[in-house]
Amino acid sequence: MTLEAEVLRLKDEKDAVLLAHNYQRPEVQDLADFVGDSLYLSRKAMESDRSVIVFAGVRFMAETAKILNPTRTVLLPDLKAGCGLADAITAPQLRTWKAEHPGAVVVAYINTSAEVKAEADYCCTSSNAVKIVEQIPADREILFLPDMFLGDYVRQRTGRRMHLWVGDCPVHAKLSPPVLARARQAHPGAPLIAHPECGCATQALPHVDRVLSTDGMLRFAEETRAPEVLVATEVGILHRMHKLNPTTHFSPIDGGAICPYMKEIELEDVRDSLALGRYEIEVPADVASKARRALDRMVAA
Ligand code: 13P
Ligand code: SF4
Repeated sequence: MTLEAEVLRLKDEKDAVLLAHNYQRPEVQDLADFVGDSLYLSRKAMESDRSVIVFAGVRFMAETAKILNPTRTVLLPDLKAGCGLADAITAPQLRTWKAEHPGAVVVAYINTSAEVKAEADYCCTSSNAVKIVEQIPADREILFLPDMFLGDYVRQRTGRRMHLWVGDCPVHAKLSPPVLARARQAHPGAPLIAHPECGCATQALPHVDRVLSTDGMLRFAEETRAPEVLVATEVGILHRMHKLNPTTHFSPIDGGAICPYMKEIELEDVRDSLALGRYEIEVPADVASKARRALDRMVAA
């Protein structure tokens, strides 16, 4: 039996749904029941009636799925699938920051640990960060964490008074304004789409046509009639772009923009995860119940 057939058989046998993020390896995406961005996959995890959720993504995504589905088994196929951005702030650091700004509203990006989410008032993803911040009463001070580039972009779009945690994604931070400007010059006329985690997304705006979450980028890819599109995000997304629109050429701004955490998961790991029920993600009940309020607001927005 091929590896692919084994994964499909085990999915049925174990009553499992396989969720894959847009940055996963092509062969993992191709066997997933749902492929998408953080918000879409959180919603799909909630809608699923399967007893097991295998999350081909990174740890904070699997933790989020567990908090939203406390009665289901949530598996992360490789525990090394962390996130450099989520590591940029700990719960004690956030508590200290909150103490320095009493009364401020805390907005945590989904790329955070469950303990950090438990300290937050709202969670958001790149696709609804602006919408979430707009829900907060205008007179309230806001602490936004941990991505300063996404935060700065949201601050510019909303005009709100926001303090930003100084954290960034090691993959996207390198996609900076000079890198984007050079790509623009080398490919005149090709639209450039960028993820808001890119290095100084706000200063990069003159070089960018659209700032979009990964699912937003895929919608753009499907609809565009441009012969070439420049893509500023992790290269795993190109697989679905090519599938959705085979007539446009999608060029990465940097072919080396590879998230090492997302690539930890290989198809063999997914097979073993299903076969052996590993690695089960647990979130302590007190942390989960505090984080749930902020996550419910994210999923509803
Ligand atoms: P999306 O929410 O756009 O999928 O982004 C998640 C992420 O980790 C980007 O680096
Ligand atoms: Fe984390 Fe960056 Fe990888 Fe996204 S691309 S999972 S933010 S390290």
